[in-house]
Amino acid sequence: MTELILSDRAARIGLAPNAAAKARAQALAASGRTVVELTSGEPDFDTPDWIKQAAIAALAAGETKYTAQAGTLDLRNAISEKLARENGLDYSAAQIIACSGGKHVIYNAFAATLRAGDEVIVPAPYWQSFPAMVSINDGTPVTLTASREDGYKLTPERLEAAITAHTRWLILNTPANPSGAVYSSDELTALAGVLRRHPHVWLLLDEIYEHIRFDEGSRTHLLTLAPDLADRTLIVNGASKSFAMTGWRIGYGAGPLGLIRAMTIVQSQSTSAPSSIAQAALAAALRGDQSFVRASVAAYQERRDLLLERLRDIDGLHCAAPQGAFFAFVDCSSLIGSTMPDGKPVRSDVEFVDYLLFEHGLAVVDGTSFGLPNHFRLSIVADRDAIIEGARRLAAAVKALARDTDVTHVLRTETTETA
Ligand SMILES: Cc1ncc(COP(=O)(O)O)c(C=O)c1O
Repeated sequence: MTELILSDRAARIGLAPNAAAKARAQALAASGRTVVELTSGEPDFDTPDWIKQAAIAALAAGETKYTAQAGTLDLRNAISEKLARENGLDYSAAQIIACSGGKHVIYNAFAATLRAGDEVIVPAPYWQSFPAMVSINDGTPVTLTASREDGYKLTPERLEAAITAHTRWLILNTPANPSGAVYSSDELTALAGVLRRHPHVWLLLDEIYEHIRFDEGSRTHLLTLAPDLADRTLIVNGASKSFAMTGWRIGYGAGPLGLIRAMTIVQSQSTSAPSSIAQAALAAALRGDQSFVRASVAAYQERRDLLLERLRDIDGLHCAAPQGAFFAFVDCSSLIGSTMPDGKPVRSDVEFVDYLLFEHGLAVVDGTSFGLPNHFRLSIVADRDAIIEGARRLAAAVKALARDTDVTHVLRTETTETA
């Protein structure tokens, strides 16, 4: 057989971890085991019918051709209206690009701007596609790990210390995947203050979970707090999470004209504009009744509360209440070094997650995949029964571990020495 030779860039990346975790869970389920899957990062609701009807109407009206490379003017106007109405921001259609999902916006931005060796600051825990998309575009991800004490958020001090002459971008994701952290106005202002001192650094602001927020809290947009950063900021957003449209593959970026033009050129020589039908659907979604967004967020919040209530009862796990997005990010460090019923030690979050899957039929994603070991991520976008059963399995799994403090001490020491 002819050997397949990968490009250097393809060899630098792997399959997204939640896709890998899902695939493992499905393989186990196919072998006859019952598996509770809490790995998902997409709404379990269907796209609202009125959005589907807008897509059907676009098809019927013959909107079946290539569109302008940056997206239709109608969609870009709808995005411009959204940014003005919801965020108080002024973007013309020329400063907006529609892409095949929020992920594709980020990919285009890095493909258009990164040169070999350029550094991109990626706060951890991170959505794993951030460093992967930097790497595949020849950049160097610089990971800044935030602790539980910092609410898993980047501090201005850490940012200041990490910026070098090679830094091209800072990625900020709020609300964040996987931690559920939401930056307050004060925190955004402080980070903006650091960026102001380093005019060569651009900001990629990923707001894909913009509407998926729980509890009260400021929703003031970073660019209304620091409008002077607009000429080096790319806003990333899309339809996937807010309108339950993950399969439609439609997202958008808003930023300075030069950047949007460069991204449009990259897009024109790769995918071309996103699907004309998805564009029409997003335009309708942005202009239409937003009650679906409110109702779905209320449902996610109920499930978050249910999961948190159950997690609180499990000795050895810590989980700060996520303020947004679709996940609970759980600290399991006190279980590292414990012993499984078969006598094997739990040496890492990866081994703990394997134990959950293979011994208890619960699929979650390890924190190591998000750049923060000793944690794991549970999805709240599952039905109530799955959340209740998942939490029950998790509690049983933790209870079955032997946590002799002496053993824990010895194993912790070993782990540290070999790390
Ligand atoms: C933080 C973050 N940004 C962007 C995306 C991309 O979403 P999409 O490409 O479906 O619009 C995701 C999806 O999981 C995400 O978690």
